[in-house]
Amino acid sequence: MASPIEPPTGYWWNHPVADTEKTWLWICLLTALILFGWMVGWSHLGEQNPTGHTYRVSAEAYRQKVSSFTNQAVDTEQGLRPAGTDVYVAAYQWGWDGLPVVLEAGKEYQVHLGSYDVQHGFSVRDQEDLIRQFNLQILPGYEWVIPMTFDEPGTYRLICNEFCGLGHRVMQNKIIVVEGDSS
Ligand code: CUA
Repeated sequence: MASPIEPPTGYWWNHPVADTEKTWLWICLLTALILFGWMVGWSHLGEQNPTGHTYRVSAEAYRQKVSSFTNQAVDTEQGLRPAGTDVYVAAYQWGWDGLPVVLEAGKEYQVHLGSYDVQHGFSVRDQEDLIRQFNLQILPGYEWVIPMTFDEPGTYRLICNEFCGLGHRVMQNKIIVVEGDSS
């Protein structure tokens, strides 16, 4: 069966590129360059870059840090009240260590994130306004220390958002934010 598309005739590949075609090629190249430059621009202007510091840590060493945090924290009905401004959270298959935690609104905490086994996610949402959220990754072998301040009291739901095995769906917990003593 013959193709319905007419084959081009003659030495079609030997004709000079039409001006309109060239214009489009320049537009494509320019757009690509602008987008490439924007990647660099965004990391400086975007204010959405990972913050804090990251340290290498073994699972065992991190486990000890978390357990010393939970030992020093005051165990209340709502959750752990940290003794200072450092908060240690560990993710593991399939649960969380150091949570639920009770924090004061308006106070800056140094939140340490780490994993005992595989990669997990740290996705936090305001229970009253689920659209307000932030998502971070937790990598085994690293302790990530992030300064965090919760402006408003409330319950912040936390889930693992990185598929980490059969129990992934049960990896949830919460952060309770209460009015600060000073406010
Ligand atoms: Cu941990 Cu999914």
